Amino acid sequence: MSSPVTAPLPGLDPSTAAALNDGLARVEELLRARVSHEDPFIAEASGHLLAAGGKRVRPVLTLLAAQVGEGADERVIAAAAAVELTHLASLYHDDVMDEADLRRGAPSANATYDNSTAILVGDLLFGNASDVVADLGAEAVRIQARTFMRLCGGQIRDDRPCPPDQDPVEYYIGVLRDKTGALIATAARFGAMFGGCDDRTVALLEEYGELLGIAFQLADDLLDIDSRPGVSGKTPGTDLREGVDTLPVLLVRRSARPEDARLLNLLDADLSNDEQGVAEALELLRAHPAMEEARVYTRGIAARAQEQLTPLPESAAVDALRTLAASVVDRAV
Ligand code: IPE
Ligand code: IPE
Ligand code: MG
Ligand code: MG
Ligand code: MG
Repeated sequence: MSSPVTAPLPGLDPSTAAALNDGLARVEELLRARVSHEDPFIAEASGHLLAAGGKRVRPVLTLLAAQVGEGADERVIAAAAAVELTHLASLYHDDVMDEADLRRGAPSANATYDNSTAILVGDLLFGNASDVVADLGAEAVRIQARTFMRLCGGQIRDDRPCPPDQDPVEYYIGVLRDKTGALIATAARFGAMFGGCDDRTVALLEEYGELLGIAFQLADDLLDIDSRPGVSGKTPGTDLREGVDTLPVLLVRRSARPEDARLLNLLDADLSNDEQGVAEALELLRAHPAMEEARVYTRGIAARAQEQLTPLPESAAVDALRTLAASVVDRAV
């Protein structure tokens, strides 16, 4: 795996860490069983990204949210696996949309096979996730369905220009809420629900997850501009190549400083086949105050996620969730 999942949780108490690692091992076993297939090609293509690595942030969240209640039983493990399968499926589709060649440090499925295979394997994994959730009851199926609808709606809008009557930053945050926040919210909600938390705690953890998800995606967008080569397992500059205006770009456009003329020119150009243009835009962006402004904004959202935890009784799990929110902003992968 590309990074140990407990790495972003420094100071995690030993019994919480042990329960988390035990839960993750069970999730991993279920995931491996789920991506297997009688057809060797389908087994290989649908196991491709699972085997390549990934941080398993969503299962970690499900397991920690369950620990706020009574801990992980079979249903919590199934919910955590279902959320990761949904995420995995969305990555197959996202790399087609973004024409990305690298994922989890390995060639993406679209690069390894082709777009049609990547799309169909993504669909198969979405079906697989639904099959797991079907064992968790009708309420869970509806939550999963609505989460998936929001994720797809967010991904569709991610590729579209901001409507002229809307504020670009607000619009963008709304897109992130859906494309990334919705699933991370459900990861937390499922953990709390099946961990036996009361309704109020479930709602607080769901909102925590949604805000964490927005902060997580904002941090991902910063990493697309600012990550050290080879660290993220993805190709930096993908958002620029695809013409997706992330928060730092929106802030550059908003500040309209005269010295940004060259950067704005590059941002308005088609960079999809212009590696020199991408490199120059990345360099100018990295040196721009909009990066720090975007970091401060991201920290503000992570702090709002932490505030959701304030009404909950103190416990090692709540403390770990607080640490998770704090670490998301400054993550390196
Ligand atoms: C990538 O998610 C897609 C985003 C929502 C930013 P992760 O950063 O969780 O990807 P993996 O699972 O670790 O590969
Ligand atoms: C996609 O966001 C998030 C999903 C819902 C899959 P990105 O396109 O920024 O994700 P990465 O950077 O490719 O992981
Ligand atoms: Mg992408
Ligand atoms: Mg994308
Ligand atoms: Mg990204």
